[in-house]
Amino acid sequence: MLDWNDPLKKGDDQPSHHVGTHPDTAQMMPASYDDGLIHEPGQHFDPNAAEAADQTGLGGIEANAGRVDVSEKRIINATADVNQLLPLKYQWAWEKYLAGCNNHWMPTEVSMQADIALWKSRDGLTEDERNMVMRNLGFFATAESLVANNIVLAVYEQVTNPECRQYLLRQAFEEAVHTHTFQYIVDSLGLAEGELFNMYREVPSITAKDSWALKYTQDLSEGTFNTSTHEGAQNFLRDLVAFYVVFEGMWFYTGFAQILSLGRRNKMTGIAEQYQYIMRDESIHLNFGIDLINQIKIENPELWGEAFQHEVHEMLREACELEIDYARDTIPNGLLGLNAEMCEEYMHFITNRRCSQIGLAELYPGATNPFPWMSEVVDLKKEKNFFETRVTDYQTGGALTW
Ligand SMILES: [Fe+2]
Ligand SMILES: [Fe+2]
Repeated sequence: MLDWNDPLKKGDDQPSHHVGTHPDTAQMMPASYDDGLIHEPGQHFDPNAAEAADQTGLGGIEANAGRVDVSEKRIINATADVNQLLPLKYQWAWEKYLAGCNNHWMPTEVSMQADIALWKSRDGLTEDERNMVMRNLGFFATAESLVANNIVLAVYEQVTNPECRQYLLRQAFEEAVHTHTFQYIVDSLGLAEGELFNMYREVPSITAKDSWALKYTQDLSEGTFNTSTHEGAQNFLRDLVAFYVVFEGMWFYTGFAQILSLGRRNKMTGIAEQYQYIMRDESIHLNFGIDLINQIKIENPELWGEAFQHEVHEMLREACELEIDYARDTIPNGLLGLNAEMCEEYMHFITNRRCSQIGLAELYPGATNPFPWMSEVVDLKKEKNFFETRVTDYQTGGALTW
């Protein structure tokens, strides 16, 4: 059964421990590749050769060059040809690509009839509930584009491993599907599209979050940026922390909890169902990012010094505070079963988990999960008919049983 918190393992809603995600086990990952392929003898990793190698995949073809030796594959600064997927080195990246493909869904397959009726009824939702839905949608509507831009315009070029690039291509498509979801919701409910999509420039708590993340990607968009220097590689790690750990791993979770809280009370069940699918995708994005960060740490231990760890800790603390401000903005008066204090405690709980996933001490010791039902929501096995919406058959690969 799929576990949304760690979609590649069966089990409960616990931090990811599958091979490749935990910082202590990632280095034990078997290099899974076809031994029938010929590996040219005498090809060993030479860090000095990294600078000379074509790391984009767009350079000229080196005719008659030797075949790829798996030991030359690295997440950043690889010397192996980035255009050759096989032999695989990082099985975890390939597995996530397959899991993403098996989770294919489209927002238009979810019925919005109940949501439309409720939204248009005069007293179906309170004013506070409507405001929460709008600010929630307003954050996600452009957040998906920011994440997509970071993958395509910043991360992809710096990742010199083809199986990770394969996953990034899949992730980029999923971010497009998520953006499509907000177009479909706006269209279905007849929402003011300009108001919703422009919220990241009009609502200060959303602007603050997005601006915080964007400053980490701006360095990478410089034409001369690369990871061959210590400074460049650390900037790249900061970007991965800002987008994978913070944006997708922390900031999406308040929004998920808010909408799924409504869904549990049989309100906006179409949007809630779509958020379940988004959350399933995002949990793989997050775990891919965690694996990527931990593998870079293993391959480049000098990047993860004490001062840098302190800096990352502070990034997560700032991000947590920004999210708490946003939660106060979305539910200033509290709703049935949900208030800003609970969102704050939940964000402390989530931040602790993200810290431990990248090998850092918890920032808020003792924080507990005020939404225990979230761990049920993320387990699809228990969610059969949870919202009493139609059972859909999105799965192309049968990885998910309704
Ligand atoms: Fe997304
Ligand atoms: Fe994502």
